[in-house]
Amino acid sequence: MKKFSVVIAGGGSTFTPGIVLMLLANRERFPLRALKFYDNDGARQETIAEACKIILREQAPDIEFSYTTDPKTAFTDVDFVMAHIRVGKYPMREQDEKIPLRHGVVGQETCGPGGIAYGMRSIGGVLELVDYMEQYSPNAWMLNYSNPAAIVAEATRRLRPQAKILNICDMPIGIEGRMAQIVGLQDRKQMRVRYYGLNHFGWWTSIEDLNGNDLMPKLREYVAKNGYVPPAKDEHTEASWNDTFAKAKDVQALDPDTMPNTYLKYYFFPDYVVAHSNPERTRANEVMDHREKQVFGSCRAIIEAGKSSAGELEIDEHASYIVDLATAIAFNTQERMLLIVPNNGAIHNFDADAMVEIPCLVGKNGPQPLTVGDIPHFQKGLMSQQVAVEKLVVDAWEQRSYQKLWQAITLSKTVPSATVAKAILDDLVDANKAFWPELH
Ligand code: NAD
Ligand code: G6P
Ligand code: MN
Repeated sequence: MKKFSVVIAGGGSTFTPGIVLMLLANRERFPLRALKFYDNDGARQETIAEACKIILREQAPDIEFSYTTDPKTAFTDVDFVMAHIRVGKYPMREQDEKIPLRHGVVGQETCGPGGIAYGMRSIGGVLELVDYMEQYSPNAWMLNYSNPAAIVAEATRRLRPQAKILNICDMPIGIEGRMAQIVGLQDRKQMRVRYYGLNHFGWWTSIEDLNGNDLMPKLREYVAKNGYVPPAKDEHTEASWNDTFAKAKDVQALDPDTMPNTYLKYYFFPDYVVAHSNPERTRANEVMDHREKQVFGSCRAIIEAGKSSAGELEIDEHASYIVDLATAIAFNTQERMLLIVPNNGAIHNFDADAMVEIPCLVGKNGPQPLTVGDIPHFQKGLMSQQVAVEKLVVDAWEQRSYQKLWQAITLSKTVPSATVAKAILDDLVDANKAFWPELH
């Protein structure tokens, strides 16, 4: 069986150790010959990499492992680039969340003005990775889950149209895992779904078991009462995420024929979200205090002891979708997966050049989207507005345009007026001086 060479871009990410453990657990179906880490923050990456080096030495000494901040070394001789960078890191996520909240607007990593600000930082970072890949390993594929995926996907569609990049999100996978639990199935792969929307902005229209039995009635009844909080409480879910899964109950009420993505809460209930946010302590603070400390603490303990048992790094089970995607391309499995792709007629009554999240069959030449058909006014109206926001952000980045960015923020359903949009934008410009192109 062929063995693959992979580079993880954003080697210093809190998700890297969980993904490495997941790759090791999936070696039978996706064998590795080489694994490299690449990051532009050498010190941050070193801690993660030195710990992973010990894990790899214990479990898989045959895999050639290295880490670097040099693009040429990183991107030469690779089959896949797995990209999860966060341009500006957590301190900038904190700004994305806190600046809008100061103006009474949703402060969120990927939704509303925070997501727009993050998009303005990410576009350049991801394009740079695409260019390194094309220069040093032109046959490789990039599996990108760097956020905000919707804006990044629109930017690569427009600015690197030939790039072999696939944009994917784990939120539908996480929600489907909960749905499976709710209907009493072992695994989300025992369900066949239809879904459409934009990234962090979509709906399931059909959920069946593999015999074709409709699971929607049972889900509808359960979600209307409990949202996506499954019957058996899960100690792993943090309180703030649990609130989001519970709130899906109210989100689902807007269109009981479908099942919603949890991210719609930021667009349907922004007043509720703001009222339940603490402008002094947002999700970035939780992540820095918990996941970042836990992961880096474990890595340091492993390095000091020289053995993996000294840390508590956990396998990221649900990240195995990344291996599903890699194997679909490598072995032409034609697996059905939700990807962020150009609409191109899949949703009949929606723009051909919009990046939509829909089921695709994935094989060696990439994704083949399935037909969705016509969508109702409610979803179409919401999606048209949001897709215009995403396109305006890429316009703003490309044209270095303050005006376009003001329009983008004004158009976001999370923002009440152009006045508020401008006030937020001016604060975001100040905070992002080191990362955004200069706007005029
Ligand atoms: P993190 O800050 O811990 O890790 C990101 C790493 O990227 C850092 O080590 C940073 O130094 C590095 N980096 C930043 N800019 C870079 C550049 N230009 N080139 C190379 N490296 C660069 O962040 P995290 O919380 O672990 O998340 C990583 C990314 O994964 C984020 O974009 C997050 O939004 C995304 N994510 C996406 C999904 C999804 O569903 N699509 C799921 C989880 C996380
Ligand atoms: C989900 C989304 C990702 C997002 C993440 C944030 O997994 O699909 O796109 O980055 O949540 O999680 P966090 O724990 O960092 O708030
Ligand atoms: Mn996502």
